[in-house]
Amino acid sequence: MALIQARGLSKTFGSKAAVRGLSFDVVPGSVTGFLGPNGAGKSTTMRLMLGLDNGEGVTTYDGVPYRELKQPLRQVGSVLDAKPFHPTRKAVNHLRMLAASNSIPNSRVTDVVNLVGLGDVANAKPKTFSLGMGQRLGLATALLGDPGTLILDEPANGLDPQGVHWLRNMLKTLAGQGRSIFVSSHLLSEMALMADSLVVVGRGTLIASGKMSDFISTSNRNAVLIRVENAELMTRELRARKAAVVTEPDGKLAITGMDSDRVGGLAHELGVRVFELSNREATLEEAFLDATGASEEFRASMGFGNQGAAFGGPMMGQQGYGAQGGYGDQPGQQGGYGGQPGQQGGYGGQPGQQGGYGGQPGQQGGYGQPPPGYGAPPPPPHDTGTSQDGSRRDGDTA
Ligand SMILES: Nc1ncnc2c1ncn2[C@@H]1O[C@H](COP(=O)(O)OP(=O)(O)OP(=O)(O)O)[C@@H](O)[C@H]1O
Ligand SMILES: [Mg+2]
Repeated sequence: MALIQARGLSKTFGSKAAVRGLSFDVVPGSVTGFLGPNGAGKSTTMRLMLGLDNGEGVTTYDGVPYRELKQPLRQVGSVLDAKPFHPTRKAVNHLRMLAASNSIPNSRVTDVVNLVGLGDVANAKPKTFSLGMGQRLGLATALLGDPGTLILDEPANGLDPQGVHWLRNMLKTLAGQGRSIFVSSHLLSEMALMADSLVVVGRGTLIASGKMSDFISTSNRNAVLIRVENAELMTRELRARKAAVVTEPDGKLAITGMDSDRVGGLAHELGVRVFELSNREATLEEAFLDATGASEEFRASMGFGNQGAAFGGPMMGQQGYGAQGGYGDQPGQQGGYGGQPGQQGGYGGQPGQQGGYGGQPGQQGGYGQPPPGYGAPPPPPHDTGTSQDGSRRDGDTA
């Protein structure tokens, strides 16, 4: 439940600036989604936050940099890589080793293995794991110390639908207990359900940070839709009142810069018959495409054009990109943290048993059921206990 403060994070690879002066906060009691196109610098930022890359800037957890944390696994859990473990060290031994390094009791290893649904394969070697099973082991590692802060890079990658559902509920529950959760994902629909706040980057630069609802509300996809008898007169009168009007393919008028009460009132004043009047709210995906359209590093050429540009909004936050056509003339709102108060309490209890993680009185219950586990995996066909280069490694017998 630490307040994470990232300040001036920068990283250059050769002549390539991967992250440029990134500053943001992740507040306790919320899931903060980290969004950005491929190559935007999300993974690099997370590595910088954990001191795994040499770069500029500083990240503190309640004022303390990661490297100075006494028992980091108990304070900050992280998964940056889908398979961050030795291929032949049994999953349970991998966790026991990490537990010992941070004075975490072995009973907690059993708890987290069951929690992430790997109970049946705890004694298997991770080289036999699928991508999703590897992600689950990574999550078990992150949760081992019952930390108040989690930093997860694409944790849903490779999970099956039940796994994604479980992950979402777990992260929301953990945030509800007052913890700080910082999670990157490309699954925007998932993020829309899970995150309260967002940090959005493009080409290594901050595009927006703050509450998800504020981010979505800045999209020019939000509009009042009206279908009227005399669209020409209505359009003229709306524009005379500084509203922006676009005629949709189905003949409706999409209006920005005037709310639905005033649009309806104006139609009444003009004596224009109204057949339909509604508000259209942007989705997270629309707002994201809107905000990051110009900062895509690797743009696919599919002949459909760029959707973000079609929505035409100005970029948010500090970038100051101009509108690219479309509805267009709404000024972008500045990002900036809404300063959600962190929920206190709920952290620090004893780990619960098998899916009842946390489980302290007065909380919202545990994480719910662990995701469906795996049966014993088939024995690997060439399980010689040797690494890829044929040499035997430490841990082979573990
Ligand atoms: N080890 C490295 N050496 C050279 N360049 C790198 C290295 N790691 C990352 N980069 C570059 O830094 C930029 C940011 O990469 P990063 O992996 O942080 O992006 P990302 O936002 O995590 O992308 P994705 O969504 O694809 O995971 C990219 O242009 C990438 O090519
Ligand atoms: Mg990445």
